Amino acid sequence: MLNFDFYNPTHISFGKGCIAKLDGFVPAEAQVMVLYGGQSAQRTGTLDEVQAALGERKVYLFGGVEANPTYEKLMEAVQIAREQNIDFLLAVGGGSVIDGAKFVAAAVPYPDDPWNILLNGGRDIKQALPIGTVLTLAATGSEMNNGSVITRKSLQAKLPFHNDLVFPKFSMLDPSKSFTLPERQVANGVVDAFVHVMEQYLTYPVNAPVQDRFSEGLLQTLIEQGPLALSQPDDYEVRANLMWVATLALNGLIGSGVPQDWSTHLIGHEFTALYGLDHAQTLAIILPSMLQERRVAKREKLLQYAERVWNLRDGDAEQRIDAAIARTREFFETLGVKTRLNDYGLAQDAVEAALQQLEQHGMLQLGEHKDIDLAISRRVLEASL
Ligand code: NZQ
Ligand code: ZN
Repeated sequence: MLNFDFYNPTHISFGKGCIAKLDGFVPAEAQVMVLYGGQSAQRTGTLDEVQAALGERKVYLFGGVEANPTYEKLMEAVQIAREQNIDFLLAVGGGSVIDGAKFVAAAVPYPDDPWNILLNGGRDIKQALPIGTVLTLAATGSEMNNGSVITRKSLQAKLPFHNDLVFPKFSMLDPSKSFTLPERQVANGVVDAFVHVMEQYLTYPVNAPVQDRFSEGLLQTLIEQGPLALSQPDDYEVRANLMWVATLALNGLIGSGVPQDWSTHLIGHEFTALYGLDHAQTLAIILPSMLQERRVAKREKLLQYAERVWNLRDGDAEQRIDAAIARTREFFETLGVKTRLNDYGLAQDAVEAALQQLEQHGMLQLGEHKDIDLAISRRVLEASL
């Protein structure tokens, strides 16, 4: 096993009705900015519930944080938070709103141009406002991690940053809040969580059986519960299991002490930035061809994945690897998430554009061996058409 530091300070409050407990989590004297997305938090009544739970506190509502949150919009929140002396941020929504709140938290006290937070990957953040979250969409794990991904529209750049100061202090996870999600977002969430596990699991063995078996359990749970969430959309237990899986998929636990990949994510971000594809759609396109391209470097883990996750025991090693990759693609397709660039109307010119972006963003040494250069990314993308 590799050496590691594991730190996760986020308090999770889980279950139906947990939003009512907000009062005990937000400091009584706080001047709170509540950030939310387009319409869903208002339409579903969650925003009202949150406001009721915050009681007499001074609350400033900031709506309109987009899916794939933009620097441009969030800088409006930064300015207001500075003017209004906001000292606590509460994100009500999915990964986008939570990521947006993390950026605002770091940007408000940041002494320099806040875009540098992204250019420096969050390394130079010295202070951040405290954040809490009310999760309405199970997918990203942002509710219990220190990462955030921000898009600057004017540059067509979508970049991540990480810093322990932006871990949420608490997250309220009420699975019943996810009943109002459209099917597409439920499916996206399953795919995103699945690929989060894969980026941390499907690399090379370092004798870390606990992390491996946790990961395999999360993957199998997603394979089992994901389709149920679509076929039984009113089932609370299914939504509860999905929400907890998605949180555990990216809260640092399964990634501790093991190599990590993240190439599928970093390449995928370019397609969201350029063409507005949903985050999970980009992952469903790239992961199967990435696994195919890296089948030699990932051979041992692919065989383990085939056997333990998909129960594939017949045929020789190459056949089992082929079958595991095919099952992965089928799983995404069964959920209704298409797995080819062509399915989204994208062709060779999109491949060229994404490669240019990767070059511009310095994404030239990706993967667990840092050896995925532009030539390999090109092969992956051409195989994804
Ligand atoms: O904007 P509203 O109207 O609220 O609608 C949202 C949005 O359009 C809607 N929605 C959310 N909760 C709902 C709901 N609709 C009905 N009922 C509800 N309960 O769903 C749409 C998508 O929301 P979004 O927050 O964008 O989805 P998700 O949670 O998948 O987040 C995606 C973002 O997270 C980033 C992605 O890159 C993307 O920008 N990621 C963040 C990560 C992290 N911080 O660790 C890791 C991930 O890999 C990912 O990159
Ligand atoms: Zn993701």
